[in-house]
Amino acid sequence: MIDLDAVDLDRVPAHVGLIMDGNGRWANARGLERTAGHAAGEAALFDTIDGALAVGVRWLTAYTFSTENWSRPADEVEFLMFFNEDLLTRRRDELNAKGVRMHFAGQMDDPRIPARNLEHMASAAELTKGNDTLHLVLAFNYGGRAEIVTAAARLAARVADGELGPDEVDEAALSSGLSVPEMPDVDLVVRTSGEQRLSNFLLWQAAYAELFFADCYWPEFGAQRLVDAVADYQSRRRRFGSVE
Ligand code: IPE
Ligand code: IPE
Ligand code: MG
Repeated sequence: MIDLDAVDLDRVPAHVGLIMDGNGRWANARGLERTAGHAAGEAALFDTIDGALAVGVRWLTAYTFSTENWSRPADEVEFLMFFNEDLLTRRRDELNAKGVRMHFAGQMDDPRIPARNLEHMASAAELTKGNDTLHLVLAFNYGGRAEIVTAAARLAARVADGELGPDEVDEAALSSGLSVPEMPDVDLVVRTSGEQRLSNFLLWQAAYAELFFADCYWPEFGAQRLVDAVADYQSRRRRFGSVE
């Protein structure tokens, strides 16, 4: 049972970002391989999705693989590539039944991503495109800087084509070239594992996000901890540079 008593359901963050960190340490603390931690992280993600549905979060972005994660040992990278693909095939119907629409953010033109993985992402997005209970974005081969560079290149091409004047370059024009342009700004970023950094996550969209650092490893996270993070978020005063 998810206890929603501490949350004001009228002031729920529209978009929550999840930096799902600490899988390896969770596994090592139990004498397991790091990859067992990634496997355990799946249940935490799906429980957290249930929490987002219960509290009424409309957008949830989960960081599943960063542009920097290619620097990990080859067997771990290979595991993560297969795991992401396998997870989509095993669980997309369940997400679809819950009214979840799936989006994918990241550098999808990277030749290191297996073709089958790209196909599974495309078909999960297609399957769920009519849903709008919760928008779930999986940030895969995602890096905030790379995303902004891609958006800038798209903008430059539009200017070069004469479609847009140089004086029409503004925040809206740039953000229309981001991975998932309809994504609203992030209100709350949650990171597990005790690390307190963004690690290149949603740099543009999280410009004014509240940050919540959960004192547990990702496999220990879940619905109730998300609800607790939302309650903490609601205790903050967001000033956006203004005064009260
Ligand atoms: C996060 O857990 C999952 C991914 C980056 C894919 P880690 O694998 O970073 O676990 P730690 O931080 O090493 O414990
Ligand atoms: C961030 O975690 C990336 C994901 C959760 C996918 P990392 O473990 O890669 O981040 P750093 O290396 O601690 O900054
Ligand atoms: Mg980590």
